[in-house]
Amino acid sequence: MAKKTKSSQKAQIVIDRDFSVSPVDERIFGSFIEHLGRAVYEGIYQPGNKNADKKGFRKDVAKLIREIGVPIVRYPGGNFVSGFRWEDSVGPKSERPKRMELAWGVIEDNQFGLNEFMEWCKLVKTQPMMAVNLGTRGIDDAKNLVEYCNFKGGTLYSDLRIKHGVKDPHNIKLWCLGNEMDGPWQMGSRTAEEYGMLASRAGKIMKLVDPSIETVACGSSGLTMPTFGNWERTVLECGYDNIDYLSLHQYYGNRDNNTPEFLANSVALDQFISQVVSICDYVKAVKRSKKTINLSFDEWNVWYHSNDADEKLEKWGAHPHQLEDIYNFEDALLVGSMLITLLRHADRVKIACMAQLVNVIAPIMTSDNGAWRQTIFYPYMHASQYARGTVLNTIVKCDTYETSHGDAPYIDSVVVADDENETVTILAVNKNLEKDCEVTSDLRQYAGYHVVEHIVLTHDDVKAENTEKNPDNVAPTTSKNSRVEKGVLSTVLPAKSWNVIRLAK
Ligand code: AHR
Repeated sequence: MAKKTKSSQKAQIVIDRDFSVSPVDERIFGSFIEHLGRAVYEGIYQPGNKNADKKGFRKDVAKLIREIGVPIVRYPGGNFVSGFRWEDSVGPKSERPKRMELAWGVIEDNQFGLNEFMEWCKLVKTQPMMAVNLGTRGIDDAKNLVEYCNFKGGTLYSDLRIKHGVKDPHNIKLWCLGNEMDGPWQMGSRTAEEYGMLASRAGKIMKLVDPSIETVACGSSGLTMPTFGNWERTVLECGYDNIDYLSLHQYYGNRDNNTPEFLANSVALDQFISQVVSICDYVKAVKRSKKTINLSFDEWNVWYHSNDADEKLEKWGAHPHQLEDIYNFEDALLVGSMLITLLRHADRVKIACMAQLVNVIAPIMTSDNGAWRQTIFYPYMHASQYARGTVLNTIVKCDTYETSHGDAPYIDSVVVADDENETVTILAVNKNLEKDCEVTSDLRQYAGYHVVEHIVLTHDDVKAENTEKNPDNVAPTTSKNSRVEKGVLSTVLPAKSWNVIRLAK
């Protein structure tokens, strides 16, 4: 743990057990595997590798994914899905075609496909979040895919699945209606009206095949897109009844090497979520609807380290090292703050996917020799492991600093209580790079609760990384600086740190 700095700040976290925001939907801890770079091939699937099982699934990677606890995984893209022909990815492997994969400029040989993905989901104890291609394809293919996956049998596509050795339907419950359809880079990108009508029709016909499914429509592909705002409104106006969730995507980078400004992106994220909630509720009001559209933040992370290298990549290889960001300690701090922000909006953010899971902008990296945890692995794992229960409206009284997003608090925090198991978990990031923070919290409503553990992730160097040779350079430790006395929790959050304070009765 970092040396205690001489000066310190003071903060107060106000917890009231009656001020509940919402139970946490566990799908907020989701992730994403795209056919991109080494996410699938050499990431989760590498037949012949010493760490692979008989089916070719990487056991070491599966173990790390189970360690995080990832309840849903979005698949197969991403930009990839906008050119995806799902029929290419099923049936005997020897008969599957090789295709030019136009989103990322590689050759896709389809040796890992839909049914392999569903088997892999079982191995890592996750549920699928499947995307349909609304770029180069349309509503008929979306319908056929749901029939292949979810219908019991006795029809063309359900019988095809059975012929492929999968007797029972996959029963995939969550479906993305395309990907980033406002993006000029997207194959088959559309105007808001075109996409809104397409998503509406696709959602409708997919729900005719299986009324139990839920659909996610594409929001703008980022807050800075010129389409933002009008796109969300138009898509919802076109498809309100056939859409259950609206997607948000956001990546951040520290291109100017300004760490305080970079860490303040959680303020921007908070504003982004509130703005999309407002648009959803505006359309609800105009439509006089009783239905509420919730949010699926199905791509979020830090992404910028690999941008330059990717520009130099040669095209038409097979699974190149693409989007392989090596994360540092400050990235882990922002990821922690992003998780806190998503949880603070748990009443509306029901689904979120860290993009992505293995090798491609990911918490887990692999080589032919093994797998290791990047810095961002830890806040993601801690949140998924411990922030289960009900989010409480967490008021943090602390110092702030000026940023381009407005005043940013030095302390980001959220409290999650689980009354059934009698636990309270406080997640907190101290963004102050110099000063520790002495925090108090009145815990009298939680009489008898004590500190089980205070986990800290900190490092003297914000640019410190975990690598294959030095995989534990940035790793969590425990602190003895948290205690409950006379109903008051007192703790110290070290300068530049991610913290998990676990309390129980
Ligand atoms: O996650 C990487 C890419 O980022 C996805 O394919 C796309 O949806 C987004 O632009």
